[in-house]
Amino acid sequence: MHPSFHYQQDTLLCDGVDLADIAASQGTPCYVYSKKAILDQFHAYDRAFGEQRHKVCYAVKANSNLGLLRLLNEAGAGFDIVSGGELFRVLKAGADPAKVVFSGVGKTAAEVEYAINSGIHTFNCESAAELELIDSIAARLGKKVRVALRVNPDVDAATHPYISTGLREHKFGIDMSEVERVYARAKSLPRLIPEGVSCHIGSQLLDTKPMMEAIDKMVALVDRLRADGVPIKHLDLGGGLGVAYTPEQVAPDIAGFIGQMVAKAAGRDLELMIEPGRSIVGEAGTLLTRVLYRKMTPQKEFVVVDAAMNDLIRPSLYQSHHEIIPLRRNPLGTIMADVVGPVCESGDFLARDRKMANVFPGDYLAVLTAGAYGFVQASNYNSRPRPAEVLVDGGAWSVIRRRETLEDLVRGE
Ligand code: LLP
Repeated sequence: MHPSFHYQQDTLLCDGVDLADIAASQGTPCYVYSKKAILDQFHAYDRAFGEQRHKVCYAVKANSNLGLLRLLNEAGAGFDIVSGGELFRVLKAGADPAKVVFSGVGKTAAEVEYAINSGIHTFNCESAAELELIDSIAARLGKKVRVALRVNPDVDAATHPYISTGLREHKFGIDMSEVERVYARAKSLPRLIPEGVSCHIGSQLLDTKPMMEAIDKMVALVDRLRADGVPIKHLDLGGGLGVAYTPEQVAPDIAGFIGQMVAKAAGRDLELMIEPGRSIVGEAGTLLTRVLYRKMTPQKEFVVVDAAMNDLIRPSLYQSHHEIIPLRRNPLGTIMADVVGPVCESGDFLARDRKMANVFPGDYLAVLTAGAYGFVQASNYNSRPRPAEVLVDGGAWSVIRRRETLEDLVRGE
């Protein structure tokens, strides 16, 4: 559990705020984030680069709430976006477009035009066809555009298959064997300035060895490209550092990791970029929910809560573990149960066969480490309004997104 969340006697606090007060005032389910925890993580990255020229481009997909984007923007972050919608959000949050990189394997012509007109820093390109499209749109707009090629370094990130991206069989990046040819093509396109190299091998990496292997391959590639006359100015190493979802897991040390990265690229006049998402917001967020029923079947016991897979899909989609703890500890021991939501699917669960506190209808629970890929992956399935989001700032808190209403559900229909 992140130190921003802790018990005082038997009351769970977030930076001094009683989470039960937020739950009682805003209702449940409700996401709560710690401003301090988010900024501490961002600054850990930023500081670790020391004198090295760098950009920390927060991966907006992890949590795109405007309140968090504003916070990170004020702290000096750049942004890694993957859609026109994310570009709209970061601009609304006041971001400097010169610190925005655009990743993703399927950018549309409309998104490319929007990004060029906004003056973003770099397109991380994933295919020769994408380069042609960007060049033609840039020509029509009379602009020149910086591009980086996203390279697939063919390393095994050793994470869940859905969030591993750096193997040859994946849809992401350009194969190492083709990279030099594609750079030559980029150089020949009149509107493109190929000055970057990027990669991203996967997410929720608890072991940094695969990342180190990828960095070695990428630095060697930069040297080769420069020798070939491609004037590479920056190397973007993507995101991926994991967080602790279970009490046994240990998140990699950010300062140590960045220190190694900087050492590997040393002696070159090269700007380093990274795109962390989860490791900045993951442990800073929790999902509050309330127990509706306890239900015993001949097979097992269920704790039915008011949060469901539409609010937090990670357990259903990736079999991921999130600790679930009560906002008020009681002395009544533990139970073994599945924690399930109201959605009409057997795949709707937050935890399975979990040893947990002996909780009762009306009790509030915190689903921990839900700040990344939580609200952003929420849906209205079963016509459930999406939860409120709250930001705790020191001893105070404010709503940074109100709970959706029933009218919100049918808007546009
Ligand atoms: N850069 C690129 C190009 C990415 O594809 C991603 C994540 C990131 C950066 C940020 O990675 P992070 O630092 O957050 O690991 N929904 C999944 C995670 C999907 C990650 C997709 N790409 C989950 O809930 O685990």
